[in-house]
Amino acid sequence: MSEQQQLDRPNQLVSHGEEAHSFDGIQEYDNKLPNWWLWTFYLACIFSVVYWIHYHVLQTGPSSMEAYQMEMKAAKEAAEKRAAKNPLTNRLLVKLSKNPKAVEEGKKLFLNKGCVACHKADAGGLIGPNLTDEYWIHGSKPVQIFQTISEGVPLKGMPAHKATVGRKGIEKIVAYLQTIRNTHVKGGKEPQGKKEDG
Ligand code: HEC
Repeated sequence: MSEQQQLDRPNQLVSHGEEAHSFDGIQEYDNKLPNWWLWTFYLACIFSVVYWIHYHVLQTGPSSMEAYQMEMKAAKEAAEKRAAKNPLTNRLLVKLSKNPKAVEEGKKLFLNKGCVACHKADAGGLIGPNLTDEYWIHGSKPVQIFQTISEGVPLKGMPAHKATVGRKGIEKIVAYLQTIRNTHVKGGKEPQGKKEDG
């Protein structure tokens, strides 16, 4: 079809020389597919075969589960390295307890992370011991308190919080607890543990 003819009959299909055929009443020409389309298609086919052989036949590539486990392991190692570089000390936690912002955040965490159900909002103690006296079951040193909150005492009903609150959050809770220890809130639970002065 010449250009002029095409302008006269815009609804006519443009043929690049192939025969027209009719399929289900629809008339179409066997036009060549564009090269960019064909190459995308060929490359997708090649990719899928290589992918299938690499991951499923030879299994030389990690499965999704293995890849996930590798990433988790790397993240754990990185966290351990960071922790080793920056070990937790009593001095660090005492210093943190002098930082009003950290103490405020620690108080919020104490109120919002479920501690109040067992230790009461004023930390005077319910199921869990009074945290405002000078008696401690698991040690009164800031690092010991960190440890109790992080690992918990599962057999005695104190849950571990390292997964739910995280190291930074627990540090802030300990900072907050430093500011309320020995304040003897009214109506606090009777002493439990040994008398210690931190
Ligand atoms: C399900 C109840 C429960 C929850 C929730 C809970 N605790 Fe406890 N907690 C306990 C019990 C019970 C003990 C005493 C464990 C024992 O007798 O050895 C305890 C002990 C402790 C101690 C050690 C006290 C000591 O005398 O050595 C600290 C500190 C503490 N909890 C802080 C927290 C903080 C902070 C949270 C919230 C992040 C929290 N607890 C959440 C029940 C709980």
